Amino acid sequence: MIVILGASGYIGQVFEAELKRRKMRFISVSRKDLDYTQPDKLLAYLKKKKPDFLINAAGFVGKPNVDACETARAETLLGNVILPQTIAHVCTILGLPWGHLSTGCIYNGAKIGDGKKTYIEKDLSSPSFKKVLAGKPWSIRGFDETDEPNFSFRNPPCSFYSGSKALAEEVLSKSGNVYIWRLRIPFDENDHARNYISKMQRYAKVYDNVNSLSHNGDSVNACLDLWEKRAPFGTYNITNPGFIMTREVIDMIKKTIAPDKTFEFWKDDNEFYATAAKTPRSNCILDVSKLLATSVKMRPVREALADSLARWKSNAVPQSAQFRRQFPARNVRT
Ligand SMILES: NC(=O)c1ccc[n+]([C@@H]2O[C@H](COP(=O)([O-])OP(=O)(O)OC[C@H]3O[C@@H](n4cnc5c(N)ncnc54)[C@H](OP(=O)(O)O)[C@@H]3O)[C@@H](O)[C@H]2O)c1
Repeated sequence: MIVILGASGYIGQVFEAELKRRKMRFISVSRKDLDYTQPDKLLAYLKKKKPDFLINAAGFVGKPNVDACETARAETLLGNVILPQTIAHVCTILGLPWGHLSTGCIYNGAKIGDGKKTYIEKDLSSPSFKKVLAGKPWSIRGFDETDEPNFSFRNPPCSFYSGSKALAEEVLSKSGNVYIWRLRIPFDENDHARNYISKMQRYAKVYDNVNSLSHNGDSVNACLDLWEKRAPFGTYNITNPGFIMTREVIDMIKKTIAPDKTFEFWKDDNEFYATAAKTPRSNCILDVSKLLATSVKMRPVREALADSLARWKSNAVPQSAQFRRQFPARNVRT
């Protein structure tokens, strides 16, 4: 049996759905039923329930976005560092294997090289990177699990959210019985405030960059497969292989679910940070070779995106033809 903490959350819900689909026995635990942030309570609960595995889908991500973590610093540290440390301690006492949701946001940029000489390009919106992207895309590589996070408290600048997640990884790296699952920019076919495809459609202006992305279903499958296959514990980048430019995602959205929508882009980083963001954002490419070597399947990023768009389920209230005639400037999607 599996115990899942934070199952009420965005990613936790995807875990719940997949555990049900696999007919795996699990118990979802919410802080409103059990204050699992308290080590004695968590220990007593797990001693009683005797699970085989624990999933930590709990954490503080900041709403509506990571800017909120800059002001809610105590909450961020409690949710993202102290809680994982508490779980690690309790799981070590019990000899209980577990998985922890981390993020690729602890990196910024990509590695570029031909195998002999490699350098890190931190700014994926820079003209020099765009030149590499256009001329030598094969030389662009992602950060792998052996690379030290370069968007962290130890390697500033970083956002407080990313700093807290990198610090948690550092703390957990001393534990022997944990999977650290690094997801990044989640998306799927279900319209949701956290879904990248939804966000792209609702932003007043879009921040153009290059990133690795994580399809929710593929990622959660990969996390559970690692456990079911009894793959070695440790850190795994869990993103769909490859990377994609925001502009390409927008093109795909326009061709499928929002043909009438006009998308605007921020002119550059200066305009974006002066107007729309308080803290630096991570844009990065991750290498998923380690995950794929375990024979866990992840679809290439464009395939997963195309599939999500083909099966898109909008939450938007359908607008009447008359409404659209009255308010054409709003570009309301039906
Ligand atoms: N969403 C993303 O973009 C993304 C990307 C990569 C990685 N992740 C990681 O995935 C994990 C889950 O993210 P999510 O997007 O599913 O978050 P979420 O929707 O905010 O859900 C997180 C859940 O954690 C629990 N929780 C425990 N301590 C908390 C605290 N101090 N503050 C707030 N919630 C707390 C809450 O459940 P109860 O109160 O019911 O117990 C909450 O529902 C996090 O560790 C996050 O860093 C998320």
